[in-house]
Parts: sequence; structure tokens; C-alpha cells
Amino acid sequence: MPFAPLQNDSFLRACLRQSTDHTPVWLMRQAGRYLPEYRATRAKAGSFMGLATNVDYATEVTLQPLERYPLDAAILFSDILTVPDAMGLGLSFAMGEGPKFEKTVRTEADVAALAAPDLNKLRYVFDAVTSIRRALNGRVPLIGFSGSPWTLACYMVEGGGSDDYRHVKTLMYARPDLMHRVLAINADAVAAYLNAQIEAGAQAVMVFDSWGGVLADGAFQAFSLAYTQRVLAQLKREHAGVVIPRIVFTKGGGLWLDEMKPLDCEVLGLDWTVSLARARALVGEGPGAKALQGNIDPNVLFAPPAAIEAEVIKVIESFGRPHSGAGTGPTHIFNLGHGISQHTPPEHVTALVDAVHSHSRRMRQTV
Ligand code: CP3
Repeated sequence: MPFAPLQNDSFLRACLRQSTDHTPVWLMRQAGRYLPEYRATRAKAGSFMGLATNVDYATEVTLQPLERYPLDAAILFSDILTVPDAMGLGLSFAMGEGPKFEKTVRTEADVAALAAPDLNKLRYVFDAVTSIRRALNGRVPLIGFSGSPWTLACYMVEGGGSDDYRHVKTLMYARPDLMHRVLAINADAVAAYLNAQIEAGAQAVMVFDSWGGVLADGAFQAFSLAYTQRVLAQLKREHAGVVIPRIVFTKGGGLWLDEMKPLDCEVLGLDWTVSLARARALVGEGPGAKALQGNIDPNVLFAPPAAIEAEVIKVIESFGRPHSGAGTGPTHIFNLGHGISQHTPPEHVTALVDAVHSHSRRMRQTV
């Protein structure tokens, strides 16, 4: 059964650097703990993984933010750590403690035992994609995602989150050969995982390189960027005759924008340390240009609505007027510079989304 036709294609058009009547907006982690309805569904599911592995719950929470806010895209409800979990590392989320793996990947023997997962173990993710796409019924496009090879390696080697990346950087500097082997396996696993999401119905895909920015200059290019490119090179360009845009978000990657310009993707995601005007000049115009996504500081959402609106306007004005008319040119997709905080008041998100839509429409009308 084919999916319903898309009613709001502003996000996909902006990804392809085509004009839109407003700047599309969605938020990283838009389905999450700041929403009371998310917390209620999570309580029913019993745990984060209980939520993510149940197709009906995953569908329900993906749609929750869209019921509240006129967002221009939905993002699959899942987690980047499903891939190392399927590799047999044993993922769990203890309440309030962040992710933990039963096994880590630190020794030569650990690396020798590592392989790309059997995609059947991730069937629940692909089933969720198809179920969400049906439930969306063409309202907005659905974004699939994965962690980058480097960001997944950080969790696999550390065994969870980290403040100093001691174990993963030890492996990288002491045994670069082993690190490269882990990253090559991760890259091939991520590419197969994203292609399966595309086949299941994802209309765009995003690679989260959340920890690329912790690397030294030189190490970033060799251990993060090269493997993100290895993923991109293997991705399906289109599905069912429709182009599937690819977004790469490197938190802390602003210093390397010129080196990210040749990446084989359509969109670069930016955190709040980057000037959108500068990014547009560097990578948003000319041959090989990218659409830009971002980049308001998520902490802006703690301020009152009037301050949120003022900060939204600054971000939109920093990018400047996007491309209008036929053909392609510079475009902006509004987002946060990183995931939304669980302490965000939900009504403040209303102020942000409304300000993006109204100011970006106003900006297109003035000459
Ligand atoms: O954006 C969305 O709405 C889709 C869902 C989504 C989640 N995680 C759900 C989630 C996405 C896109 C992610 C990506 C993810 N997961 C990243 C990359 C983006 C980023 O934030 O840098 C990373 C690094 C992770 C790993 C991860 N998952 C951590 C560190 C944690 C615990 C910390 C935290 O914020 O709670 C998670 C758990 C997680 N993933 C939650 C959600 C809604 C909260 C878990 C809960 O409900 O208890």
C-alpha cells in the first residue's frame, strides 16, 4: 500500500535548496521528557527501550509534538544506541542516569569480535518507521537517523556517556589501527541501517556526530569526517523515484565547515557557536553548496516568550533572506543547536515555532 501524498513539503524543499513560503522548523529531541504526554507513555512502557522497541508506543510518541506544535517535520522516535545494542553490547537506560552498555570495546579481542549487526535485530526500528509514516498520513515528512561512526564508537568504548572521552581517546592514540577497524565496522553498519530506514519509509536521514567536536584538529578529519563520508557514499540517493536528503550534524564542528563542504550530503546541521551568516558564506552558496540547519541555543527556551521571539528573529536574520523563486539557492531549516532540554516549559516551544513561521514569512514579504 503506497503512503499518502505529502501535504507540507517545506522541509524537504529547503533540504534541496528550493524556495519555501516560510522557514521550516523541527527540533532535535522534539519527542521527549519535556512533554508530560511523553512521560505518561514512557511510564506505561516501563523503560526507554520498552518505548523504543514497541511499534505502537514509538508511533504515539513521535506524533506527540506534532499534535501540540505546527512543526514541519517528524523524526523517528528511537535512539542512536540501538546499533551498538544490536551488535550485542547490551544497552540499558537507568532512570536519570543516561545510557549504559554491559560490554565495552577496548581490547584487540573485543575489536576482533565486533561485526555489523544482523539487521533483523533492528526490525523494530524499521517497523516503527513504516508505522509512523502511515500514522503521519502525509502531514509532514519523516526523518530517519543514526549516530555517526565516531559518536557510536565513543559510547561503545566508554561503555556509556563520558566527560573526558579517556578510554576512546586512549584507544585512538595508542592503537589507531584498532580504532580504524571499529569505525569501518560502524560506518558499514550505519549505512545499512539508514538504507533500511529509507526502504521502510524515511523521507530524509540525519547523521548525528554529537561528539565529533571533542576531537583535535587532524583527528577530527581522520576519525570522524572520513567515516561519516564512508557512510554517505553508501546511502541510497532516492527511493521510489524521490530524492532522500542527507543531513550531517557535527556538534562543535563549526571550525571545520570548509572541510565539511565536500561531504556528499545536502544539509549541514550547526550548533549555536556558529554564525549562520558566516556559514552561509562558506558553505551555503556556489558550487557544492549545502542547505543549513540550526542553530538556536536550546537554553533560550528557558526565557519568557518575548525573549524567545527576539532570539528567533536574530537567528533568522543572521541567515538572511533565503532563496526565492525557481531553481536552487541558499536555504535555512530552523532547529536548535542541540537537543531540547527535559526542563523546557512546553508552552515556550509554541512561542519558538510561531516566531519562526511568522518572522520568516514577514521577511519574505519585505523587499
Ligand atoms: O529527536 C527526537 O525526538 C527523536 C528521538 C531521539 C532520541 N535520541 C530519544 C531519546 C534522537 C534523535 C536521539 C539521538 C541521540 N541519542 C543522540 C544524538 C543527538 C544528541 O543529543 O547529541 C545521542 C548522543 C543519544 C544517546 C542518548 N540517548 C543519551 C546520552 C541519552 C540519555 C541522556 C538524556 O538526554 O536522557 C539517551 C536517552 C534518550 N534518547 C531519551 C530520549 C527521549 C531520554 C530517555 C528517557 O526517556 O529516559
